[in-house]
Amino acid sequence: MNEEITFNAKMVLAYDANTRISIPTYDFLFTMAQSYFRAQLGEKAASLLVIGAGGGNELSAWGPSNPKWTFTGVDPSAEMLAMAKNKTVQLGMESRVQLIQGTIDDVPYPDSKYDAASCILVLHFINDEQEKLKLLRSIKEHLKPGAPFVLVSAYGDRHDAELRNRLHIWKSFFLDVGYESAKVEEMGNTIMTKVSFLSEPKIEQLLREAGFTHIGRFHSTGLFGGWICHAE
Ligand SMILES: C[S@@+](CC[C@H](N)C(=O)[O-])C[C@H]1O[C@@H](n2cnc3c(N)ncnc32)[C@H](O)[C@@H]1O
Repeated sequence: MNEEITFNAKMVLAYDANTRISIPTYDFLFTMAQSYFRAQLGEKAASLLVIGAGGGNELSAWGPSNPKWTFTGVDPSAEMLAMAKNKTVQLGMESRVQLIQGTIDDVPYPDSKYDAASCILVLHFINDEQEKLKLLRSIKEHLKPGAPFVLVSAYGDRHDAELRNRLHIWKSFFLDVGYESAKVEEMGNTIMTKVSFLSEPKIEQLLREAGFTHIGRFHSTGLFGGWICHAE
């Protein structure tokens, strides 16, 4: 993970508000992911593996309306996990949620593999391409054959005008919601230097190499995209 972007308590407090600005369709993204999982999983009980569960937004978005789902949430940040834990308690979901501080390497292989998994806004914090692939492979190894997987990440080729155009839109959005222009410039510079962008074809290639099929992008807002696929 990037040294410069760590998730401390101050960021946790700002997180819920800021993600909804960074990704204007943030809540809609979670609703669409839920629709995909529901379409694939039906009404049966299902176990979901949530990679990067810090903040607890997957748990609060999908938990209450899917009482037969259980969640294993993984995140290296104790502060972010504390926030997830709070949400779990507030929603009365403790019996359905297991939180693990660490990475996927700390998730034991269950007797029965997971029915579904998500990795939302995590991949772009891992710099090394082989490490990204390792994470995706490991997620796939934890899934039952055919299990649905949702990946959301910053994407684009940083040398391409296509990404620069999307950066302009992203900055315009911040200006429109009232941010100072100097702050917007600083945020844009930070994201372009610190976040590890991959082009869409490369992301799809990594998913294929990791053992996922039926890959399709279902979402895109500003700098971020979301893909659905299935474990082989
Ligand atoms: C931008 S937050 C996204 C949290 C949540 N998925 C959401 O969308 O609200 C990124 C999270 O990824 C976590 N993270 C970073 N590297 C990770 C890794 N290798 N495995 C799992 N989580 C990781 C961070 O600690 C942080 O909580």
